[in-house]
Amino acid sequence: MSRSFLFVPADSERKMEKAGGVEADALILDLEDSVAPDARPAARQLAAEYLKGRDNVWVRVNPVDTEDFEADIEAVMASQPAGIMLPKPRHARDAVKLSERIDVLENHHGIDHGQTRIIALCTEHPEALLTLHSYVGTVPRLAGLSWGAEDLSAAVGAATNRSTKGEWLPPYEMARSMCLFAAAAAEVAAIDTVFTDFRDDEGLLRYAANARRDGFSGMLAIHPDQVEPINAAFSPSAEEIEHAQRIVELFEQNPGVGTVGLEGKMIDRPHLLQAQRLLQQARRN
Ligand code: COA
Ligand code: MG
Repeated sequence: MSRSFLFVPADSERKMEKAGGVEADALILDLEDSVAPDARPAARQLAAEYLKGRDNVWVRVNPVDTEDFEADIEAVMASQPAGIMLPKPRHARDAVKLSERIDVLENHHGIDHGQTRIIALCTEHPEALLTLHSYVGTVPRLAGLSWGAEDLSAAVGAATNRSTKGEWLPPYEMARSMCLFAAAAAEVAAIDTVFTDFRDDEGLLRYAANARRDGFSGMLAIHPDQVEPINAAFSPSAEEIEHAQRIVELFEQNPGVGTVGLEGKMIDRPHLLQAQRLLQQARRN
C-alpha cells in the first residue's frame, strides 16, 4: 500500500503539473472541499485529462448524496483512476453505493471489474463513527480507510479539534483510533490524516513516525514538501528489517514452538505477525 497520498486540487493546472514531479506514492486529485463549486465542471475535465496513462492517481469525488457526485464519477471513470476517495460517508452503505456506480462504469468503459479501488474517509460524519463495523467484509474494492477531523468537529459544534500545542484533542484522537481499528477489522490499509501545518517539518516527522508506530501504513499530504518526510517515516529502517528477519528465522528454526527468547525478550506469535508485516511493507516500498 502507498505511504504518501498527495492531495492536488483538480482546478489547479499548475499544482497538477507540479505534482507530476513529486515522488508521492499516490496522488489524489480533489474535486471536493479544495475546489469551489463553480470551478468543478472545469476541474472534472482537467482531472479526466490528467488521469490518462498515469498510474496511482486517485480522485476524491463529492459525497454520494450530492449532484456533484454523479458528475464527478461520470467525468473521471473513462480515464481509469487507480481509485476513488469517498468523503463523508455515514455508513459503509455509502461506499457500496459508490462501488455499484463504479461497477456500471467499469463495465461501460471496458475496465477490468474491481480494478478501481476505494478509500473511505470514515470519520467525517458523526454517524459514521457509530457504524464503523459496517465496513467489515462489505466492499470488496475497499483498499483503505482514512479519517478527518475538520468536518467532524464542525458537525459536533466544537470550537477547535486541536490543543494549543497542536495535538488532537481527545474526541479526535478517538476518531483516529477508531479509523485504525476499523481498517484492521476490515483488513484494509489505515491511512492517517493530513498534517495541515505544511511549514512545520519537525512536527510532520514526529506525527508521521507516531502514525507508523500506531499501525497506519501511510498518510495524506497536502503539500509537495511533505511527501519525502512521509515516505521516509513509513519506510522500515535497515535495523527494523534485520530485527524482523531474525524473528522470522527464529520461528523457522524452531517449528512447532509458540514462544522464543531474543535478546532477553519474549517473542511470540503477535511478534511474528508484526515482523512478517514489516517485511512485507519493506518489500513493497
Ligand atoms: N500539489 C501540487 N503542487 C502544490 C501543492 C499540492 N498539493 N501545494 C502546493 N503546490 C505547489 C505550489 O503551486 C507552488 O508551486 P509554484 O511555486 O510553482 O507555483 C509550490 O508547490 C510551493 O507552494 P507554496 O507556495 O509553499 O504553497 P501555496 O501557498 O501555493 O499552497 C496550499 C498552499 C495549502 C493552498 C496548497 O499546498 C494546497 O492547495 N494543498 C492541497 C489542498 C487540498 O487539496 N486540500 C484538500 C484535502 S485536505
Ligand atoms: Mg473535508
